[in-house]
Amino acid sequence: MSHQWLASALCLGLLICAACAPPPASTPRERITTPPSEETAVDPYLETRLQMVERTMRSRGIKDERVLRVMETTPRHEFVPERYLNQAYADHPLPIGHGQTISQPYIVALMTELLQLEPGDKVLEIGTGSGYQAAVLAQLVDEVWTIEIIPELAEQAEQRFRRLGYANLHTRTADGYYGWPEAAPFDAIIVTAAPDHIPQPLLDQLTPDGRLVVPVGPPGGYQTLWQLVREGEDVRAYNIGGVRFVPLVGGGQSGGDYEDRFGEGEQR
Ligand SMILES: C[S@@+](CC[C@H](N)C(=O)[O-])C[C@H]1O[C@@H](n2cnc3c(N)ncnc32)[C@H](O)[C@@H]1O
Repeated sequence: MSHQWLASALCLGLLICAACAPPPASTPRERITTPPSEETAVDPYLETRLQMVERTMRSRGIKDERVLRVMETTPRHEFVPERYLNQAYADHPLPIGHGQTISQPYIVALMTELLQLEPGDKVLEIGTGSGYQAAVLAQLVDEVWTIEIIPELAEQAEQRFRRLGYANLHTRTADGYYGWPEAAPFDAIIVTAAPDHIPQPLLDQLTPDGRLVVPVGPPGGYQTLWQLVREGEDVRAYNIGGVRFVPLVGGGQSGGDYEDRFGEGEQR
């Protein structure tokens, strides 16, 4: 199934008009169908999580079995504020404070699939937020670097990673527009906030066959999700469709100071 189909199926028509996206790498693997009752007993959210994966991911075209498996096992309820626990597995973004959000689960799965990850890959995430996307990545590859610009969110995420035992995550509080040059090159880079243009420093920090997945567009306006695939000196760009993310802020953006640019609303 192509990403044209995925695009048209995205929640409430937010993802539209995909063009020429290649099928992602898909590694067939057995998945959990019936959870052992013991697992259900220790994790009261297991059944809800399995339903989320079936109804909002598998049925809407996510095919990479490694990604689906990790979405089935990652405890999203550990990454949302307590008052939103009852919506932890609903397919929409949720507030995490400081005007930011934990992204919609389907979008997390889609962007992760588009990264076309192999187990030995090095991955960089821009926009740690709650840490959920980083935790998903950390289960798919050897090492993940993640950057957050808001110190309080970065600190909370780091504590969460320690408590939940994600030992292969490197965190930094900084403006992610400039990437993490000392740790580069990366096989894959994911940006979970929308810049107004594709950050050149991130393209420069990809391996010769690296992938960059990034939403691009104005704050609150029409944004496009791009999958960029480096082929040596060339870059192929695939338009995955329309999305709505909180803005990437900081020095690399035309708007300057990040505190002025956070908006309210249904952003990812
Ligand atoms: C939609 S939230 C990310 C959700 C996150 N990936 C998760 O799983 O919870 C976007 C995040 O990007 C962060 N951000 C915005 N501009 C940034 C920048 N220039 N560098 C690093 N992080 C940035 C925001 O503070 C926010 O936490």
